[in-house]
Amino acid sequence: MNILYVASEARPFIASGGLADVAGALPKQLCKDGHDARVVLPLYSLIDPKLREGLREICNFYVSVGWRSVYCGVLEGKIDGVTYYLLDNEDYFKRSFPDGIYGEYDKCEQFAFFSRAVLEMISHIDWQPQVINCNDWQTALVPVYLQLFYKGQPLFENIKSVFTIHNIAYQGQFGFEVLDNIVGIPVYYTGLMTFDGCVNLMKAAFETADKITTVSLSYAREIVDSDVLSYGLNRLLATKQYKLTGFVNGIDVEELNPETDKLIAKNYSKDDISGKRECKKALLSETGLTDGDEPLIGMVGRFSIDKGHKLIKEVFDQMVADGCKFAILGTGEKEYENFYRDMAARYPGKVFAGIRFDNGLARRIYAGADMFLMPSLSEPCGLAQLISLRYGTIPIVHEVGGLKDTIKEGLEGGNGFVFNITTSEELQKAVRRAHELYGDRENWEKLMKYDMTIDNSWGKSAELYEGLYKELAG
Ligand code: GLC
Repeated sequence: MNILYVASEARPFIASGGLADVAGALPKQLCKDGHDARVVLPLYSLIDPKLREGLREICNFYVSVGWRSVYCGVLEGKIDGVTYYLLDNEDYFKRSFPDGIYGEYDKCEQFAFFSRAVLEMISHIDWQPQVINCNDWQTALVPVYLQLFYKGQPLFENIKSVFTIHNIAYQGQFGFEVLDNIVGIPVYYTGLMTFDGCVNLMKAAFETADKITTVSLSYAREIVDSDVLSYGLNRLLATKQYKLTGFVNGIDVEELNPETDKLIAKNYSKDDISGKRECKKALLSETGLTDGDEPLIGMVGRFSIDKGHKLIKEVFDQMVADGCKFAILGTGEKEYENFYRDMAARYPGKVFAGIRFDNGLARRIYAGADMFLMPSLSEPCGLAQLISLRYGTIPIVHEVGGLKDTIKEGLEGGNGFVFNITTSEELQKAVRRAHELYGDRENWEKLMKYDMTIDNSWGKSAELYEGLYKELAG
C-alpha cells in the first residue's frame, strides 16, 4: 500500500519529542513489511546540513495561505529504504527557533501552510498515497482541507485519512481571527472548526478524519472518559468512538540495543548482564555520584506537571534518606529545573541533575541505572519505559495510558513496579517495593533478564496500523 506519513518532526531530521521517534520508526517498519510508506515534514533550517545535502529538489509550486499564494519547494531523499519529502519555505521554517520548533508567534500560519502544501504536493509528484496518516495538531488541517477542498478532484477522491493523537494536551487552539485570514476556511464552517469558544484544529481533525488513532488503548479510553485527561475534548470524542482506536508504540530495537549500543560504557545482553554493572559504575563516575551498591534511579524526559514531577518533589528527600541515588536528565518547567538543581546541590554524590538534552547521557542512564522512574499523571504511550525494559532497567510507573498497557507488577508476568492511586505516598511505596526486591539479588537479576526479553519492537504495532489502512482502503 501507499501511505503518506505527515509529521512536524521525524528522526533522523529533527526531533523534540516522542513523535519524532514514531515518525522515524513506523514508516521504516511499514516499508520493511512491503509497503511504500513515505514521510513528509517541514524543511527546518535547524536540520543538520549533512542530512540536507542528501536531498534534491524535485518540484515547486504555490500554495494558498488565507488569501495569499506562497512558494513551496519539495526536496526528496531516501534513508533506510524510506522516501522523505521536505517542504521548503524559508519564511516559515528558516528561523532561529529559540524555544524549540513550536515556539513561534505564527505557528498557526506555519502549519496551515505545511498542511495545505502536503495536499498540493500530491498533484505535483508522480506518486499518490491511498492513506494519509497525520499526527498531532500541527498536521490536523490535512484531513480538514482534504474534505473541504480536495475530495472533489479525481486524484483525491479515494484518499483516506487517519489522524493520530500523540498528546491531546496540545490541540492547536487559536482565536477566531485566524479562520478566514490564515487557515483559509470560510466563516460558515465556524461550527466545524471551533470548540469551547476558539478555533481548535485537533477538534476539526476529529470531525473530518476517516479514523482517529492514539498511541495506546488505555489512552484511547481515558480521553473519552475523562475531561481532565482529554483537556475537555472527551465530550466530543465520545461521539467519535466508532472511529477511534489505540495502538501502543514500539521502539527501534536496532538502534536501542544494549548488545551493540556505541553510546554506552560496556555492551551486555540478557545472557550476560555483567556489562550492565560496568555501565552503572561508569555512569556514577560520569555524573559525579559516589560509587556503591545503593539503587540508582534514572529519570529522563520533560519536566512538566503532567509527567508527575510534583509527586516526586513531595517525597524526594525521603527517597534519598531511604538510600536511593538519582541520575536525572531533562528540561522543562522552571520550577522543576530549579528543584532538581537544588537537590543536586543539597545531596552531592547522591543526586545528579543535568538540565539539558543529551542523547548520549540519556542512553547511559537507561543502561546504567537500576530503576527508571516515570510517575506520569497522563501518558499517551511513553517510550522511556520501553527503552528501560530493553536495557534491563526496571520501570517504576503510575498506572495510566501507555504505562498501564506496558508495565505490570507482580510475580506472574510482572516487569516493573506500578502504583495506581495518584499520591506521593503511593509513589514512595512503589519505590520502596522496588528497593526491597533490589536487595534480593537473585530475583532482581531474574526480573532484569526477563524485562530484556520483552518484545517492544515495531513489528506488532505496525501490523495493527496495516490492518487499519487496509480496512480504510478497502
Ligand atoms: C507524546 C506522548 C508520549 C508518546 C509520544 C509518541 O510525546 O506524550 O506518551 O509516547 O508522543 O507517541
